[in-house]
Amino acid sequence: MKRLTWTYALALWITLSACQTEAPQEPQDQAQWMVDNAQRYLTDRAWRRQHLETSLWRPELPYARKRLDSYGLERGGWDKLQTIAPTVAPVRADGHPSDVHNDGQNLLPQQLPTTIEGWRALGKEVFWKMPMRRDAYMEWIAQRPELWDDVGLQTDQDGNIRGLTRFEDARGNQRVGLTCGICHGDNGVAGKAARQLDLGHARALFSQALGNTPGAFEDWGPGRVDVTSDSVDDPLTIKNLWGVPHQSHINTSGSIQLHSPAALAVRFETQFIVGHAMEARPNRALMWALAIYIVTLDRPQTEPQTDTPGADIFQARCAGCHNPQRGYSGDLVNAEALTSSQQSARSPLRGTGFYKTPSLLGISSGGPYLHDGSQPTLGDLLDSGHPFGQPLPEDDKHTLLQFLQTL
Ligand code: HEC
Ligand code: HEC
Repeated sequence: MKRLTWTYALALWITLSACQTEAPQEPQDQAQWMVDNAQRYLTDRAWRRQHLETSLWRPELPYARKRLDSYGLERGGWDKLQTIAPTVAPVRADGHPSDVHNDGQNLLPQQLPTTIEGWRALGKEVFWKMPMRRDAYMEWIAQRPELWDDVGLQTDQDGNIRGLTRFEDARGNQRVGLTCGICHGDNGVAGKAARQLDLGHARALFSQALGNTPGAFEDWGPGRVDVTSDSVDDPLTIKNLWGVPHQSHINTSGSIQLHSPAALAVRFETQFIVGHAMEARPNRALMWALAIYIVTLDRPQTEPQTDTPGADIFQARCAGCHNPQRGYSGDLVNAEALTSSQQSARSPLRGTGFYKTPSLLGISSGGPYLHDGSQPTLGDLLDSGHPFGQPLPEDDKHTLLQFLQTL
């Protein structure tokens, strides 16, 4: 009897501790889990390391290796980098040069938030104002207002360039950085992919100004960015972010598994470090706040119309992969089974052989579609026979499109 009681107690303990460490499914519960675990992220190196390792399920890929070799190590590595000053200033569209020291705002609050709302408010600031990467071409563009329209830069309600920010780098130089908002905040809507932004064109102009050829940059097209620096030219469409808390994987090839929203914070932290040429790391509280903001993003669209004939067609033809219970996202799919171009599934840095089934939340907000932007409209995508090459009958197509417009 005594033995049984012990076994029972042990089983109960295992169940309870599993509940404490495993992150929940619903976005609001994920956010609460993050609020509860903030201190662990900020203070427990081994815990962060464990989240990195679990999320990089293909550790042999160069993309994963680079992070595994440097992040959350017991000794040395990226944890030892200098933290960049969290003071930022806007890039003004009126040409008035702002200065980080005079016009700066310190993003880090005196006291860390303790509620979801508090963390979200901080995360929102980080989303729009934190320099996540710096690029010489953007520094050059920022000084040339005559090019802004051409590359699709926008101004915000305060008359500043949306998504650009001034900051001081690890060497004390004032620089221009790109925030999340420049790529994922079209028209000031957080989470909306900036599909008009033509960073390839921006790079081509800079390249020509230096006396070089525009190279492949000019061929990217708006809304696309080659996020990997390898020998392959494979620009990927910028993603809407409303479906992220529902997705099992992120990145086109699903190279990061999201078993927990902590993996998102680790992803943003390492993204920052790589985006700053491994010279500095971000303040971790700001990355945690950003991840809480991303899992609780408000979606501007209304609810999908699920009681329509189009929804029935979707249920029959699409829901097997794009699961409505998971924000219309789904598992990884073997790329060879799909009509999609195979190139990014085989990317030397991040190729897994799979494509993740993306969330379709907010899909009506605009194309181009598929990872490479090869389908300009939803109608084109259906005509292409996605996913396996069998186009729908015309009537069904029309009805299904009506449903997709509500997502
Ligand atoms: C220069 C433009 C750019 C910036 C800046 C940028 N992103 Fe992205 N982001 C992209 C592109 C392009 C992809 C698609 C990559 C892929 O499909 O593999 C992406 C993918 C993502 C994904 C994965 C989405 C998915 O469904 O796979 C998340 C999450 C994300 N970005 C969040 C952020 C956050 C948060 C920031 C700020 C810390 C940020 N991004 C900054 C361009 C950008
Ligand atoms: C076998 C699983 C599967 C089925 C079935 C499926 N899809 Fe997909 N879907 C995917 C995958 C994987 C991708 C990503 C492919 C890519 O980016 O090249 C995708 C991409 C998309 C995209 C582009 C999303 C974006 O952000 O660019 C849309 C839209 C879409 N699917 C709609 C549909 C519709 C409508 C149906 C039903 C007719 C459907 N899918 C059926 C797996 C599937």
